[in-house]
Amino acid sequence: MRIVIMGPPGAGKGTQARRLSESTGIKHLSTGDMLRAEVASGTELGLLAKNFMDRGDLVPDSHIIAMIQKQIDDPAGVLLDGFPRTVVQARALDEALEKSGSPVDRVIHMSVDIDELVRRLKGRAICGDCQTPYNLDSDPPSKAGICDRCGGPVAVRVDDQPEAVTNRMKVYNELTAPVLDYYRARGDVAEVIATGSPDEVFEKLSEVIRSGATSN
Ligand code: AP5
Repeated sequence: MRIVIMGPPGAGKGTQARRLSESTGIKHLSTGDMLRAEVASGTELGLLAKNFMDRGDLVPDSHIIAMIQKQIDDPAGVLLDGFPRTVVQARALDEALEKSGSPVDRVIHMSVDIDELVRRLKGRAICGDCQTPYNLDSDPPSKAGICDRCGGPVAVRVDDQPEAVTNRMKVYNELTAPVLDYYRARGDVAEVIATGSPDEVFEKLSEVIRSGATSN
């Protein structure tokens, strides 16, 4: 299966994509995680991407498409989180999947109101090694600053500072919301209201994937 998980910054895409990948066995591909790994390794792409990411701007399409292209035609399927984020990326994904004869099966839109998004991002911290997200207010790691899963360092993201969050929301509305319209025009989008506990949201998403329903 090829599943695209969409939603604004802080909607819980990373939290849920990890859980869905574990429960379904479908590979989780997050362009945000891939870029943060490039930044941490100091690669050419990482150095270029860091400036865009810290401000909350998108990394140019050509770099993103080149980075992800080799991995999206995995015959076992993929769970895409954070990609595509522009209509240019959505078209590139369609072209790549057309070649492999396995189009996108499902686009899931996780919606959360803006006050809740800001609250979630204010408390968010992630593991620098395995990228597991935490919330320092509602879901902190058992030992402060240390990841429960891998023992890596847990820290706040630079782009979760208020100015960058405001810009990320603006960029989402201007460049990524049109991707939802692109998929809605072909009737591919399942709408999920992603409020409630992470367990409740996981149940809603699992049901949408299981049943092929268009909302939950
Ligand atoms: P990326 O890492 O993809 O950031 P994002 O889309 O802004 O999404 P977030 O990671 O902020 O949020 P999320 O929805 O995953 O929420 P999470 O599960 O962490 O991208 C970062 C940057 O990389 C971009 O700004 C851009 O520069 C670049 N980039 C990436 N992809 C790109 C692309 N395709 N093209 C161009 N540039 C690209 O949860 C958030 C918080 O809420 C956590 O603390 C979590 O514990 C908590 N939480 C989760 N669920 C719940 C719940 N149900 N109730 C309460 N709290 C919850």
